[in-house]
Amino acid sequence: MGIYTDHIEPKLVSCVCGMKALHKEREQIVPEAAGRVLEIGFGSGHNAPYYDCSQITHLYALEPSAGWRRLGEKRLRDLPFTAEWLDRPGEHIPLANESVDSVLVTFSLCTIPGVEAALAGMRRVLKPGGKLVFLEHGAAPDPGVAKWQDRLNKVWGKFAGGCHLNRKPDDLIDKAGFQIAAIDRHYAPGAPKIAGFVSAGVALR
Ligand SMILES: C[S@@+](CC[C@H](N)C(=O)[O-])C[C@H]1O[C@@H](n2cnc3c(N)ncnc32)[C@H](O)[C@@H]1O
Repeated sequence: MGIYTDHIEPKLVSCVCGMKALHKEREQIVPEAAGRVLEIGFGSGHNAPYYDCSQITHLYALEPSAGWRRLGEKRLRDLPFTAEWLDRPGEHIPLANESVDSVLVTFSLCTIPGVEAALAGMRRVLKPGGKLVFLEHGAAPDPGVAKWQDRLNKVWGKFAGGCHLNRKPDDLIDKAGFQIAAIDRHYAPGAPKIAGFVSAGVALR
């Protein structure tokens, strides 16, 4: 862990993730999470204000990075329901099979190195009929934008904690065996197109 990865990078990426355009997207989808919830890549807690508190019984906030956990601590502690950190990576979720009602993942499938293993784990811990609530950015449908996403992917990842610009979150979710029940794919208004093509939806286990 260097100073950049432990301190600067989480602050920098959290600023980008906190842009107004993305808060509008969060507001639409985060309230879908209900019951015992696992959030993958809680980060600095940008989703916290949008949880429907009346629907949630407990939150597991999985976040492997100590730097991000420091940033998210206050938002986690201020939640009006019980919440606890899981300081493990998404590829190794330390929860029992079929133990949560919802998994929430936002802007993290782009970053998790073993994304297929992580999605398999999310499916494993969801109860039958449980839902994966997602808001992710990825490969744009326009060839002109997609070309720049491919070109800049490596250098972007170096500064943005390993984030990929050109993953296809819907395909990854589908291939992990989820049934996508609702999905909205669009450029987030006000966000740069290169990182702003989002897929928001709910997939069932
Ligand atoms: C772009 S940030 C998004 C943070 C937050 N989900 C949000 O929407 O603001 C990516 C997050 O993925 C987390 N992450 C990186 N590798 C991970 C892994 N292997 N398992 C779970 N989360 C991981 C990072 O620590 C960071 O919190």
